[in-house]
Amino acid sequence: MNDCLDIINSALEAYLPDGEDVVSRAIRYSVGNGGKRIRPYLTLEFCRACGGDVSRALPYACAVEMIHTYSLIHDDLPCMDDDDLRRGKPSCHVEFGYANALLAGDALLTLAFETLAKAELPPQTTVSAVSILASAAGWSGMVGGQVMDLANEGRRVTARELEATDRLKTGALIKAACRLGCLAAGREDAVPFADEYADCLGIAFQIVDDILDVTSSADLLGKPVGSDEQNEKSTYVTFYGIEESRRTVSELTSRAKKALDGIEGDTSSLAAFADAMENRKN
Ligand code: IPE
Ligand code: IPE
Ligand code: MG
Ligand code: MG
Ligand code: MG
Repeated sequence: MNDCLDIINSALEAYLPDGEDVVSRAIRYSVGNGGKRIRPYLTLEFCRACGGDVSRALPYACAVEMIHTYSLIHDDLPCMDDDDLRRGKPSCHVEFGYANALLAGDALLTLAFETLAKAELPPQTTVSAVSILASAAGWSGMVGGQVMDLANEGRRVTARELEATDRLKTGALIKAACRLGCLAAGREDAVPFADEYADCLGIAFQIVDDILDVTSSADLLGKPVGSDEQNEKSTYVTFYGIEESRRTVSELTSRAKKALDGIEGDTSSLAAFADAMENRKN
């Protein structure tokens, strides 16, 4: 993953606006170093595992990270989770004001699609990529999940509602990242296996996020802890407790790794990555 990080960070830098206007600065500030880049990594690694040319998948990988960063900027706003720290720095709205943070998020959302369009891949492939990313980001994906997450605040939810929320707010974009990697390699036949891997990894990822919100520190996470309790969020931790949540993460991780058996190429990095995500500390 470390090799991938440098490639992803340089590619992102090249796609971001370089102006000195406030929204360009806010975009660079929020996308800048500090993110784990797990979504673009997944795009590149699925592309590699499927035998594709990783450099051609870079616009897809960067587009996913742009959507993700936009979702974080908006997620931190006072009207949502109201968090002041992100990626180890004051949140975008703290540094640049509410309106500019809103607009930086909007600009990243559209820049993501501008970036997809730059891929040197068959146009039909990129049309599919647009469709996948748009539905994963929008009302049927991340945005829909965020709506459910807010509606779940302060009320008892069912296990099914909780899973549906995480599947959308976090799982959808992770799934798009994996799918886009297969697509960039021209291997749509690998998508069902990528989907199963991503479905398991996505939920596990959010459960670990919820556990860390309770057990970690702001120094380690680069974002506040105790945010979920403060907002009366409904999470796996509030529903099942930490031990049961950890067991679920472990089961999901095993299932994710099993799904990789369906892919012909070398998936050992993707398996190691699933383990690393289970045991992550930030
Ligand atoms: C945080 O995502 C938001 C969730 C979906 C849980 P990450 O933990 O991937 O955040 P960064 O990109 O590393 O900052
Ligand atoms: C984030 O869930 C989901 C998004 C779509 C951004 P959280 O609200 O738990 O993410 P963090 O903990 O603020 O990163
Ligand atoms: Mg949130
Ligand atoms: Mg949040
Ligand atoms: Mg969280």
